[in-house]
Amino acid sequence: MKPVDPRLLRYARATRFFLVAVVALGAVGAGLVIAQAMLLAEVVVGAFQYGRSPAELTTPLLLLVAVSVGRALVAWFTERAAHRASAAVKSELRGRLLERAAELGPEWLGGQRTGSLVNLATRGVDALDDYFSRYLPQLGLAVVVPVAVLARIVTEDWVSAAIIVGTLPLIPLFMMLIGWATQARTDRQWRLLSRLSGHFLDVVAGLPTLKVFGRAKAQAESIRRITGEYRQATMRTLRIAFISSFALELLATLSVALVAVTIGMRLVHGDMDLYIGLVILVLAPEAYLPLRQVGAQYHAAAEGLAAAEEIFEVLETPVPVPGTATVPSGAVAFESVTVRYPGRCVDAVSEVSFTVEPGETVALVGPSGVGKSTLLNVLLGFVRPAAGRVRVGGVDLAELDLAQWRSRIAWVPQRPHLYAGTIAENVRLARPSADEEAVRRALRDAGAWEFVA
Ligand SMILES: Nc1ncnc2c1ncn2[C@@H]1O[C@H](COP(=O)(O)OP(=O)(O)OP(=O)(O)O)[C@@H](O)[C@H]1O
Ligand SMILES: [Mg+2]
Repeated sequence: MKPVDPRLLRYARATRFFLVAVVALGAVGAGLVIAQAMLLAEVVVGAFQYGRSPAELTTPLLLLVAVSVGRALVAWFTERAAHRASAAVKSELRGRLLERAAELGPEWLGGQRTGSLVNLATRGVDALDDYFSRYLPQLGLAVVVPVAVLARIVTEDWVSAAIIVGTLPLIPLFMMLIGWATQARTDRQWRLLSRLSGHFLDVVAGLPTLKVFGRAKAQAESIRRITGEYRQATMRTLRIAFISSFALELLATLSVALVAVTIGMRLVHGDMDLYIGLVILVLAPEAYLPLRQVGAQYHAAAEGLAAAEEIFEVLETPVPVPGTATVPSGAVAFESVTVRYPGRCVDAVSEVSFTVEPGETVALVGPSGVGKSTLLNVLLGFVRPAAGRVRVGGVDLAELDLAQWRSRIAWVPQRPHLYAGTIAENVRLARPSADEEAVRRALRDAGAWEFVA
């Protein structure tokens, strides 16, 4: 997993702006951290070494309060920016996902598990919240703060700076090692969840049928089994998360201890100023903190990124290029149309030929599964024939402008559905701009005027 997926920048514009904001806020935050350390050291040294009274230390104390308020403000701005960015990115990704799913059409949708796709568009995208509000800001801090802190320390004491420079890379190194070890598990976890929710949705949707045939109990058993698997996978992932953050914590603590020991020795021997020693002591843990936090947030972010990965997969599924020719009038002719669905080893329909002249009424009849819906889907342009072609007025359907073609088709699906809203809104689905008169005429033509008016 890359820390920042470049495709996220491409598909969700808000991410770019947010990254810039995060680094800028990180820089301000780093400045404040350094100021805080210096002010703290000044107050402590003033009070204990030079015995100054609180009245003499009002300026640094007030500044210290101001710096704390500043840090709180930076945290608040970061939080705000993160929530805005994640809301914008989520809605953009959802929009693109829906758009792409609609473009890919029912044939592609038929090959997907509805539950998985729904889970991806809802909960999956929501998992990006943690990525934006916790992981990315920490990543920004992890880039800016150690550099700023080191720059401050190296001007005072190169030994401490050298120790930090030597130990700091160990944290990302260990993080990467742990990451490699846990990658497979995070992926597995996400796939399990996806399968589980897909399964749930499909079972719940089919519950009436299952009940009728007395198979509901059997499904309960399988859901119980999958839930158990999911729980175990979650616990395993959590165990790794805890152990890895413990390892990183230990590493950072030992590194700070190294710095502290060398400073302590020099303070005892009088080789170092108390003020400088204190500044470095306060600053040293701050250099490790953001890196450690990135490690801790990594697991929270991984789920979001895994979901984003799946969304990108859908977004990158190529859409068949539609034609552009205007639709002529004339006969509809099927010429040796053969359709084979992906993943099937037999043709759904093979070598179907017939012609429908203007004004003619044709009924396709046949037993279930013979391919009536398939032929209609070919006519609607949702399914592309593997061989043969459909001609409309002599022009191949593949060359026609499909939106224009579909606007001339009235189609009642096998399982009709009335959407929430008024009857008029349902009638206007395909052409929202249709006026009252057109809606009335459509209802009369469909023979529905008597019972809806
Ligand atoms: N999306 C799909 N993916 C794979 N196979 C499919 C798909 N849709 C239909 N089939 C298969 O293609 C064949 C024709 O199905 P089709 O739905 O066209 O039949 P039908 O004549 O409309 O049946 P019914 O009368 O039950 O509606 C069937 O064997 C079916 O299992
Ligand atoms: Mg059918």
